[in-house]
Amino acid sequence: MGVIRQRIETLEDSPIVDVFRAGLGRPDVIPMWAGEPDVPTPAFICDAASAALRAGRTFYSYNRGTPALRQALIAYHRRMWDIDLPDERVALTLSGMNAVMQVAQMTVQPGDSVVAVTPSWPNILRAMEINGAQVREVMLVPGNAGWRLDLDAVYAACDATTRVIYLASPGNPTGWMVTRAEAEQLLAFARARGIAILSDEVYHRIVYDRPVGFSFLEIARPDDPVFVVNSFSKAWAMTGWRMGWLVYPAYALPAVEKLIQFNTSGGLEFLQAGCIAALEHGEDFVAAFVARCRAGRDIVNARLDTMPRVRNVPSTGAFYAMFEVEGVSDTVAFCHRAVTEGGIGMAPGTAFGHGAERFVRLCFAKSAENLTEAMDRLERFVRDYRE
Ligand SMILES: Cc1ncc(COP(=O)(O)O)c(C=O)c1O
Repeated sequence: MGVIRQRIETLEDSPIVDVFRAGLGRPDVIPMWAGEPDVPTPAFICDAASAALRAGRTFYSYNRGTPALRQALIAYHRRMWDIDLPDERVALTLSGMNAVMQVAQMTVQPGDSVVAVTPSWPNILRAMEINGAQVREVMLVPGNAGWRLDLDAVYAACDATTRVIYLASPGNPTGWMVTRAEAEQLLAFARARGIAILSDEVYHRIVYDRPVGFSFLEIARPDDPVFVVNSFSKAWAMTGWRMGWLVYPAYALPAVEKLIQFNTSGGLEFLQAGCIAALEHGEDFVAAFVARCRAGRDIVNARLDTMPRVRNVPSTGAFYAMFEVEGVSDTVAFCHRAVTEGGIGMAPGTAFGHGAERFVRLCFAKSAENLTEAMDRLERFVRDYRE
């Protein structure tokens, strides 16, 4: 009694987890609730990690990742975005989530606010709240052509207490992508106001109209207050490995080193051998995976666009569809019953922020066969559904 901080006790549990629990262990449900592919990590990545494990690379290691992994990350940034990063601006983290938590620990304290572009993956906002910040949500505007950022609304939400602006591009759950012009305006605003930009680029490879997503690093100066969170989870089917990375301004290096030391004391060295393999030999896998996601997106969009009672908001990146169902206001109940009565696992919009309550998200990084069956089930379920 009384030993848990009130801020932690009152944190909201994720409604996604709630629905996930309802369907866990049910083979009759097609799972599309979580943001991950239905294929395991490719063998060449696993082989590199298990060889390193067998070779005895099981000791304490570098806080910011092995020099070899940092070099592989630097080479990857050069290849993807033509950016030359010095070694001191890159750190391995134990997942993208862990990178976000450490940026929160570095930048906010009670009394501060964070302005977040939503709908958003909820864990990011909770990381800010755990560290004492108040989160102000600025919702993307849904329209027939997709989601749109209202930059003036972002600016209006910022005041003297604002320390961080958070955005994810491609976004989860919307699949929205920031344009270079919008990013330039946001960065100019952040620079002028001394606000950090936390750019979440974990879906940078899950794009359909270009080889790689836009990165804030393409426009940021080395000393700009820009923190880029990234992850091995999505592009290389490594969600369970919990490996990610962070790029930060050079002056943040001492803070990053201390936070890693006191949070995790660095990552497992043998897993890092797998990460190097992903970066150096992963392009064929990524290309095939994106092609599979594109096929999934086409199946899902074609069905949702014509499904009675459904309004689909088109996405441009990532592997999610977001849609509304006419006459459905309680999407938590809708998603629960979709599991138990419809055999389909989806995530309720309530999980993603205020204003997203009426939406439902599904992940289409799945086989064509499962998605086709899931869309048949969804159409039947929606047809008969009454609140
Ligand atoms: C927008 C966004 N950021 C960050 C993450 C964290 O990824 P991970 O912790 O698996 O690296 C996720 C995971 O779903 C995400 O959707």
